[in-house]
Amino acid sequence: MNQHTRASTAPIPFIDVAAQRRRLGRAVDEAIARVLDHCQFIMGPEVRAAEAELAAFCGARHAITCASGTDALLLPLMAKGIGPGDAVVCPGFTFHATAEVVAVIGATPVFADVDEESFNIDPSSIERAIATARRHDLKPKAVIPVDLFGQPADYDAIGAMARAENLFVLGDAAQSFGATCRNRAVGTLADATATSFFPAKPLGVYGDGGAIFTDDDELAAVLRSLRVHGEGGDKYDCVRIGLNGRFDTVQAAVLIEKLKIFPEEIVARDRIARRYSRKLADVAAVPRVLGGRTSVWAQYTIRLPHGHRDRFVAALKAQGIPTAVHYPKPVHRQAAYCGFPVADGGLAVSERLAEEVVSLPMHAYLDEPTQDRIIEATRRAIED
Ligand SMILES: Cc1ncc(COP(=O)(O)O)c(C=O)c1O
Repeated sequence: MNQHTRASTAPIPFIDVAAQRRRLGRAVDEAIARVLDHCQFIMGPEVRAAEAELAAFCGARHAITCASGTDALLLPLMAKGIGPGDAVVCPGFTFHATAEVVAVIGATPVFADVDEESFNIDPSSIERAIATARRHDLKPKAVIPVDLFGQPADYDAIGAMARAENLFVLGDAAQSFGATCRNRAVGTLADATATSFFPAKPLGVYGDGGAIFTDDDELAAVLRSLRVHGEGGDKYDCVRIGLNGRFDTVQAAVLIEKLKIFPEEIVARDRIARRYSRKLADVAAVPRVLGGRTSVWAQYTIRLPHGHRDRFVAALKAQGIPTAVHYPKPVHRQAAYCGFPVADGGLAVSERLAEEVVSLPMHAYLDEPTQDRIIEATRRAIED
C-alpha cells in the first residue's frame, strides 16, 4: 500500500521547510558560499540587492530590510515619534507582536475587533477604538491592520478613516507578503508595511528577518538611519536614537534565492487552499477570501463549532496530522496586555474566533495524496 493512502498514520509536517530546501538545493548553498567568500556579513551587497528585488516584487518605492518582522513594525512607529500619551489601534485577534511594538515605545495599544469573515480588523471597530482612546485622554496616532493568515485587510475603508482622523497606517503584513488587493500588491496598500521573513512565513529565510515598504522618501531615510543605531552621515555620526535592527547578509542571500521561486509557491499555496475548501466546505466553515483580494495562505484556518476543537485536534494527531491554533487567546486577554483599553462594545468576534479556529497543514509542497489524507481525516473527525 502507498504510504500516502488513507491507512497511513505516518507523521507529516505542518510546514515542510525541508521540502523547499531540497528544491532550492545548491542555489542556496552557493549563495551562502558567496557571502562566506566576500565576508561582508553586515550590510553586504546581498542586502542592497534583496531590497531592490523586494521593492520591484511589490512595486513599492522603498524596501528597507531589518532584523525581524517585529523590528519592521517597531521602526516605523519610532520614525513617527509615537510614544507615551499616544494610542495605536490594533486588532485583538493577531499574534501579540503587533501590540508589543506599541507598548515597547511607551504608547498604548487600543484593541479593536475583527470581521467575522476575513478575521481582519473591522473598520467600524476602529472608530469605536478611537473613541475609547480619546476617553482615556490618549491621542490616536496610528492603526496597525493585520493581514491575518495571508489575506489583506480592508485598506480602502481603513485608509479613508485614517485620512479623516490623521492616523498613520502601518500594515502588519508579516503573513501576507505576496498577496494583492484590487491588483495592488501588499507593500503598497498602507503608509508603511511591515513583513516578516521568519522561516515559517510564506517568504521565510533561514533565521530571523523582516522588511518595511513605503513610498515615502523621508520616512525611508529615517528608517534606514534608525535600523543602524540612528546613524547620520557615517557610522560614528549619531543623529537619533535607533537600534541594531539590520538584516543579516547571509539571510539576504537566502532571500534572493527564495524570491525566485516565490511566485510559483504562491500559485501552489492557492491551488491547495482552493482544493481544501472544495472538499471541506460541506462539513466545516472554510476560510473566505473577500472580493478583489488574493491570499498567500500563511495559514489555512477553519472554524469548528464551539467545544469541538480539542477532540478534533486529538483525532487528527492520532492520524499523524499536526494542527495549530492561531490564536488560542486574543491579545487583549493575554496577561501582558489585559490592562490596555479595548474598543467600546468589546471584542466578541476575536473572543469567539480564539475558541473556534484551527489551522491545517499548509505549504507549497503538499502533494495531492497528502492533501487527501488531511481532507479525509478532517472530514472523519468532524462527521464522527
Ligand atoms: C501578525 C504578525 N505580526 C508580527 C510578527 C512578528 O514577526 P517576527 O517573528 O519576524 O518578529 C509575526 C510573526 O509571527 C506575525 O505573525
